[in-house]
Parts: sequence; structure tokens; C-alpha cells
Amino acid sequence: MSTETLDKAKANLPIRGYLKLDDIMIPQGDDLVQAILDLKKEKNAVILAHYYQIPAIQDIADFLGDSLQLARQAKDTDADMIAFCGVHFMAEAAKILNPTKKVVLPDLQAGCSLADGCSGEGLRKMREQHPGALIATYINCNAETKAESDIIVTSSNAEVIINSMPKDRPLIFAPDKNLGRYLMKKTGRDMILWDGSCIVHEAFSMERIAAQLAQHPDAKLIAHPESETPVLDLAHFIGSTSALLNYVEKDEAQKFIVATEEGILHEMKKRAPHKELLPALVFDESCNCSECFFMKRNTMEKLYLCMKYELPEITMDEELRLKALVPIEKMLELSKSVK
Ligand code: 13P
Ligand code: SF4
Repeated sequence: MSTETLDKAKANLPIRGYLKLDDIMIPQGDDLVQAILDLKKEKNAVILAHYYQIPAIQDIADFLGDSLQLARQAKDTDADMIAFCGVHFMAEAAKILNPTKKVVLPDLQAGCSLADGCSGEGLRKMREQHPGALIATYINCNAETKAESDIIVTSSNAEVIINSMPKDRPLIFAPDKNLGRYLMKKTGRDMILWDGSCIVHEAFSMERIAAQLAQHPDAKLIAHPESETPVLDLAHFIGSTSALLNYVEKDEAQKFIVATEEGILHEMKKRAPHKELLPALVFDESCNCSECFFMKRNTMEKLYLCMKYELPEITMDEELRLKALVPIEKMLELSKSVK
């Protein structure tokens, strides 16, 4: 490929979010897998992937995990490059935690409805409206929002962290109101909630899931806490992606209705090959609403391209990074006991 073509591609990145070059030959099938493995070796890279990624990416990853586990891996890696197969806020957290590493994301437009709906400025205003309040923010948010927060939580450590917050201060929880409501119930702690939600988890239909349960009386409903309250009220078990996986593996039930992003079924099937797994039903029968289209923007081809050209790269203003680092480090410190 000519330097001129590559320059053109680089110029396209902020708009397109990924390389799109007609004259680049991208290997396919087994060759593509091998090419990614070769790049990994050549660049001393590590591939981190979330459970919602497409199966091929989950299979090639060095580490597959939930958002807390991935943040820890990113912090501790000694690789030179982190190819982060997840959404933007996850790759950004990796950069915040390990700034000397090159962090690349296969598709820069892999966003998140929760992160997109909560700005740093919005949180600042909320703080002004509630003087003296502390702000606990879900990791599904951008660096500016993290920088305005007192502490970050993930779905696997949120309960432990909320329980550890000073009782004499009001508490704001952003941006996921469903997770917030669930935590209020679990911890008995009143919180002021930001009005945000996950477009994937709010698509689950309580009525249709109730019908599913009636049809499969031997099944257990398991749900991610980003789901709406009526769905959570029906659930036999509620937990983060890693908690749901562990539950399916260890529980004696043989059939589960799974109310979270469908990508997780790939790892669930591997861990519990003899169990029956049914995706929970969504309101609109005609859509693939239980797939996160942000997560699914990452493809094997884009993973190859981002590793080969080291683009798109996550970069950040150092002052912002340092501000965002403080509440993330507090979270890691307070949740050492959480696997
Ligand atoms: P986990 O932290 O449970 O992996 O959740 C991340 C996420 O984006 C869920 O929608
Ligand atoms: Fe964001 Fe929801 Fe997608 Fe998770 S599943 S990345 S919360 S939009």
C-alpha cells in the first residue's frame, strides 16, 4: 500500500472511525486469524475482549472478561499495545490506567447509550443542585464524566462500593437509573439518580419473559442489573456479566433464560455445554435488540487493521487523564475483594 493511501486513510479516521481502504488486502478466514496472531507477536500486543463481542473476537482474545476484570488486566499488562475489543469507554479506561501503552480500538464509533447520555458538564450541574453530595458513577461513561465523579463502580463491585460510601452525605448515582434503582433496593441507600439507561437492556419485555417462564417452568431467569425493574423483579438471579456466567456454570438448574446482551451466550455455552440457554425476549419481535450494535461494530477485519496500522488509537489530554484516574483508582482499591 502506498504511503499516500495510508495518509488518506488516517485522514478519514476521525470521521469514519475505522480504516476503509479499497486497495488493502485483508486476509480472510483462517488466514485472518493467523494474521492477527502474527501481529500480536510482532507488536507485543495483548487482545482484551468483553463478553458481548462477536464469537471470533472472544475466541482470539488473550483475556475475556467483564468491565472490572478488563480494567484490571489493562492496568497490569506489560504488553506494548492493548487491542481493546469492547466499547470506547472501556478502551478509554485502559488508557487512563496504563497511559504508556498504545491502546487501539477496532472501531472508534463503538459507543454506549449510557456513556453518550451523561456529560461531565451535566454531572457538574447536578452536583451544584445537590450541594454536599458525593457522585458514584458507573464505569459506562466517558473520561470527562469520570473526572467529575468521586468514585467509579462497575456492575460487579457497585454494591460493595455503595455500601462503603459515607452515610452522612447525599449520594448521586449516574448514569444508569436501572442499576441505580437496583442498588437502592440492595443496599437500602437512597440515591439521586441520573436519568440514563442502556438501550439493549431496556428492550427486554417483562410480559414476554413472563410468558417464556410459563412455557419453561424448569428455567431460571438471570438478568443483568441494567435491565428494567419489572424484569429484575422476575429474575431468579441478578448479576454482572461475569456473575451471570458463574451462576450458569455452578447452579443446579439445567435451563436459563438470559436477560443480557446475547454475545454472552458464546462463553456460557462453553462453560456449561449441556445446559439449555434461551435469550430473553424483547418488546419488538422483529429486531435484534438484545444485541448491542455498539459492541458489534468491532469485527475481525477491523481488529486486524487496528493492530496493523495502530489506529484508531485512544489518546487523551494528560490533565483529564489524571483527574479521571482518581475515582477509578479508588474503585480498584475498594473492590479488591471482588473477583
Ligand atoms: P459488565 O461490567 O457486567 O461486564 O457490563 C458491561 C456492560 O456494558 C453491560 O451492558
Ligand atoms: Fe452500553 Fe448497553 Fe451496549 Fe453495554 S450493552 S455497551 S451498557 S449500550
